[in-house]
Amino acid sequence: MNITVIGSGYVGLTLGIGLSDFGWNVTCVDIDEERIKKLNNGIIPIFEEGLNEIVKRNLSERRLHFSTNLKEAVRGSSVIFIAVGTPSRDDGFTDLTQVWKVTDDLGKLIDEYKVIVVKSTVPIGTTGKIYNRIRELTNTDFDIVFNPEFLREGNAIHDFFHPDRVVIGTESEKSLDVMKEIYRPIYLLQTPFVFTNIETAEMIKYAANSFLAMKITFINEIANLCEKVGADVHDVARALGMDGRIGPKFLHAGPGYGGSCFPKDTNAFSYSAREFGSPLSLVEATIKANDKQKLFMVDKIRRMAGGSLKGKNIGILGLAFKQNTDDMRDSPAITIINKLLNEGAVVKAYDPEAMKNARKIFGERIILCKNEYDAAKDADLLVILTEWNQFRALDLDKLRLLMKTHAIADLRNVLEPMVVKEKGFTYEGVGRKI
Ligand SMILES: NC(=O)c1ccc[n+]([C@@H]2O[C@H](COP(=O)([O-])OP(=O)(O)OC[C@H]3O[C@@H](n4cnc5c(N)ncnc54)[C@H](O)[C@@H]3O)[C@@H](O)[C@H]2O)c1
Repeated sequence: MNITVIGSGYVGLTLGIGLSDFGWNVTCVDIDEERIKKLNNGIIPIFEEGLNEIVKRNLSERRLHFSTNLKEAVRGSSVIFIAVGTPSRDDGFTDLTQVWKVTDDLGKLIDEYKVIVVKSTVPIGTTGKIYNRIRELTNTDFDIVFNPEFLREGNAIHDFFHPDRVVIGTESEKSLDVMKEIYRPIYLLQTPFVFTNIETAEMIKYAANSFLAMKITFINEIANLCEKVGADVHDVARALGMDGRIGPKFLHAGPGYGGSCFPKDTNAFSYSAREFGSPLSLVEATIKANDKQKLFMVDKIRRMAGGSLKGKNIGILGLAFKQNTDDMRDSPAITIINKLLNEGAVVKAYDPEAMKNARKIFGERIILCKNEYDAAKDADLLVILTEWNQFRALDLDKLRLLMKTHAIADLRNVLEPMVVKEKGFTYEGVGRKI
């Protein structure tokens, strides 16, 4: 089967590369010529464990292609995935410009039966509108499917081959059979599949992300309360997670959720729900509490730095929105560092993978360091902002020699409070009792 994936960003690349590994002949298309040129030279524009090897394997098998030629790719494929960006405005309105551009292109290009699969996360009802718009532009037969993506950045390849579930929303038997065929390798592994209508599939994607964002926000608020009453959020989360009805995942207190999905999707979901006259008060409260969480972290940093940030050297460990990715989209680090800079702090930062993105965001406003110890040198306070494994094993003796003031704000709770204390540091986690 020949498949085209339109949009070769995080989702499109993982999808296209994964599908080619299933044995399908896949063309990943993008309008970004530089990106396609790099991909054709084997340079992967995102950091994701395991991606390089799979790309090499499938390029050499000639099953994987990268192109800017949409017409050629679409005409030669029976299935077309749409995986372009769907950014949201601050008020939650989703900017579908990229989607409508592709929709119009497809309406003009398709010349025989195609299955068009929407992978981009879109407001409920959008897939139906895409169908109508293409229908207006062509008499050619086609079907439309909504197939949400649930990959976790940092685990994208693993999640592609071992998803918790695959959701397929469509009204047509013919396209359902095509989708089952595409995913046959994981269908055979007894991956759970949910076959449903399009609106339900669209709802599932937003509801899943909003629930996870809400769970993170819940434990963050519990952590803040723990600090006031002398309780320890680790023990609270562990005991909560032992309850089978709650489960242990997404109960790690921290500086607030970020990334390319949770902030955008919670905003878009609540905006869309308000438009339908059925507001989601819990999702709205989650968004507000998450914004506040980042500001609480700034309060904590200021307090630990002695009450004022003016002229203070703050070492930052971690810039990506989570470990194992270089993605800084909506990373809490951006809000927090900007506040520190506004209050006159000097920021030195290190992240194992996100340095290039950090340079684009902060320019020369922060000092980018070659490793964690370089960032800690002469620091009045060291702040851990991303839970990279290498920060769990910091050499505290070395830090003591390097830092001006021995204080660590561990905003991901990756260190053992007593161990850090015993080494002579002032330590604060998020909701940890010492
Ligand atoms: N990143 C994630 O973890 C994740 C997870 C699940 C769902 N999603 C959703 O998947 C969608 C894509 O997300 P992403 O993170 O991959 O976005 P991205 O911004 O990384 O990639 C989008 C790509 O589409 C390309 N593009 C834009 N217009 C195009 C056009 N007309 N023709 C061809 N290419 C075009 C862009 O150049 C870009 O490379 C979004 O709707 C997002 O919400 C993302």
